[in-house]
Amino acid sequence: MAPEAARVPRVIVGVTGGIAAYKACEVIRRLKQSGADVVVIPTLAALRFVGEATFAALSGNAVATDIWGDVQDVPHVSLGRSADAVVVVPATADFLARTVQGRADDLLGATLLTTRAPVVIATAMHTEMWEHVATQANVRVLRERGLIVLEPAVGRLTGPDSGKGRLPEPAEITEVVLQALRRRGTTADFQGRRVVVSAGGTREPIDAVRFIGNSSSGRQGYALAAMAAGRGARVTLVSANVSLPVPAGVDLVEVSTAAQLDDAMHRAASSADVIIMAAAVADFSPAQVAEVKLKKGTAPAAIELRENRDILRALVESRRPGQVIVGFAAETGDSEGSVMEHAQRKLAAKGCDLLVVNDVSGAEGFGSATNTVTILAANGSQQAFQSMSKAAVADAVLDAIGGQFIRTQ
Ligand SMILES: Cc1cc2nc3c(=O)[nH]c(=O)nc-3n(C[C@H](O)[C@H](O)[C@H](O)COP(=O)(O)O)c2cc1C
Repeated sequence: MAPEAARVPRVIVGVTGGIAAYKACEVIRRLKQSGADVVVIPTLAALRFVGEATFAALSGNAVATDIWGDVQDVPHVSLGRSADAVVVVPATADFLARTVQGRADDLLGATLLTTRAPVVIATAMHTEMWEHVATQANVRVLRERGLIVLEPAVGRLTGPDSGKGRLPEPAEITEVVLQALRRRGTTADFQGRRVVVSAGGTREPIDAVRFIGNSSSGRQGYALAAMAAGRGARVTLVSANVSLPVPAGVDLVEVSTAAQLDDAMHRAASSADVIIMAAAVADFSPAQVAEVKLKKGTAPAAIELRENRDILRALVESRRPGQVIVGFAAETGDSEGSVMEHAQRKLAAKGCDLLVVNDVSGAEGFGSATNTVTILAANGSQQAFQSMSKAAVADAVLDAIGGQFIRTQ
């Protein structure tokens, strides 16, 4: 179906009274840069942290501060109705509690009751406030209602404290909002499908504190999980050593080693329609693991390595009828062949349906926000894409998987 004629999407940015309110400015700036029409609704507490003039200048729109301004436009109803997405950044503990109650005693609360657009909530507060049973119960209720509540990040908080409670990075919050906008109006083409995604990088212990690892950030796997959930799938995310917010509506299984990832993938695969192996899994692990930390001067002359089971190949060998299996290959060219030659050989050896290939010899790939991929299919077809965000890559991979469903049914 042809896409709708471009219309400028409207994003309402709610700002509540947390110390991270100044970071909302960066989210507003990024949303404007992406072409959105941004209207800011700060709470009275937020205006004690950042002035109305800053929000007005950055958004290019008048700032809506209370229900009693411009009453002829009925703002407590019209703003919510006009939104294509709403994001609250930062969201205080107090705001979460009010939203659970469905309070409409300020313009932001009324807007949340009147909007039918996706709502993204980026929480930020001290660790004790976040961990309190009341806050956790509020988050659970909001997620059950379909709001996307982002977990706070771990890091430096106000003053000398650090821990969980820090606002996620403005770039990540913006990306979640843009994903929500992209999904709006699209059909839930993965409705009822069960999708299992692995993400991150495994760690193979050498002793009690050291390990052999890799620099996978998990971003691509997390983007795939978020996108699949947004397209209606029931998603299990098997995550190895990733410190990113868990996408809304996704079941998380945390693992660390290749053996644990292997085990978790096989368990989840037994009921899956789609398996996506985006994690970077160690091919080898130390044959012996010291239970204590090896002391200086006692370094072993060599570390003996043992080959790990090839998880992708094992998943292919035990696949259910109709199951679509997707592998990822981070390749570099060498004297044995080009990136694509290595990838073609890998696709044939693994026997999966699709292989998403990215050339990691340049700056892109591990840890970067963008990716340049080619999707190879077992039937020989090949789709090469320009550099794009990992969310857009996720969309392209899911489109290719959708094509496989049509082929297998
Ligand atoms: C300096 C300062 C920093 C604050 N930071 C936070 C915060 O990060 N998260 C939070 O939940 N509350 C924080 N608060 C408390 C809120 O401002 C307070 O709960 C207020 O009622 C929130 O109002 P609002 O949700 O209507 O914006 C802070 C208060 C002060 C004075």
